[in-house]
Amino acid sequence: MKAVTLNTLKTMKQQGQKIAVLTCYDATFAKVANQANVDALLIGDTLGMVLQGNDSTLPVTIEQMVYHTTCVNKGSDHAFIIADMPFMSYSSPELALKNAALLMQAGAHMVKIEGDLWLSEIIKQLTQNGVPVCAHIGLTPQAVHVFGGFKVQGKTEEQANHLLNTAKQLEHAGAAMLLLECVPSNLATNISQSVSIPVIGIGAGAETDAQVLVLHDMLGLNDKPAKFVRNFMQDKTSIQEAIESYVSAVKDGSFPAKEHQYIY
Ligand code: KIV
Repeated sequence: MKAVTLNTLKTMKQQGQKIAVLTCYDATFAKVANQANVDALLIGDTLGMVLQGNDSTLPVTIEQMVYHTTCVNKGSDHAFIIADMPFMSYSSPELALKNAALLMQAGAHMVKIEGDLWLSEIIKQLTQNGVPVCAHIGLTPQAVHVFGGFKVQGKTEEQANHLLNTAKQLEHAGAAMLLLECVPSNLATNISQSVSIPVIGIGAGAETDAQVLVLHDMLGLNDKPAKFVRNFMQDKTSIQEAIESYVSAVKDGSFPAKEHQYIY
């Protein structure tokens, strides 16, 4: 199987082919996800919640992210690998560069950072040093205590305009990908059409270029799933089948359906 690269993902956006992304934290699941033809694996800092049992992603350390990135890289033979930079690991351009280097050396092909317009400076520093960056905007879980909970973002016209402008500025700063979390579907559509880089959505409607879900959520292991989650394990007898079903639902546009979206 040919390796999926950033160019592959850009071409898929240009050709209107949907991109299936899934979180992954170890070699065994990486192998299964590769066999199920997931395009990109995200070593998300959600591992702090789904693996470690915390109620937020804040306790996750760079050492833990490096460890899980190494594991995923060992089990993956062609998927594109994105690794999250955890809370406070990119609070200055210098620190970001030092920590991004650790993730890239562990096998990541891209790092993901969460925030707002202030990410521009960090993105410039990383991209100038050969590190592709995915900028995560909208609901950014590392700022859960700023938002006062895991809440939909961009609901007012002012917030929506701000997010659209942020997306454009971050592309301009050099971001090679965006991740939009928990925003109204029409805003996500507008942002995806306004930038030339691939946009991954989670709780962001059906019109983003890519979809991502947390592995444990789509396998039905979360007893309080968010509105945007579908349990792909429900009518399946193996994890491989469930992941294959997720990939085909993303590719044919049947996931996310109306009931998984924030429509105002
Ligand atoms: O950490 C994570 O898993 C994420 C989700 C948005 C998929 O960033």
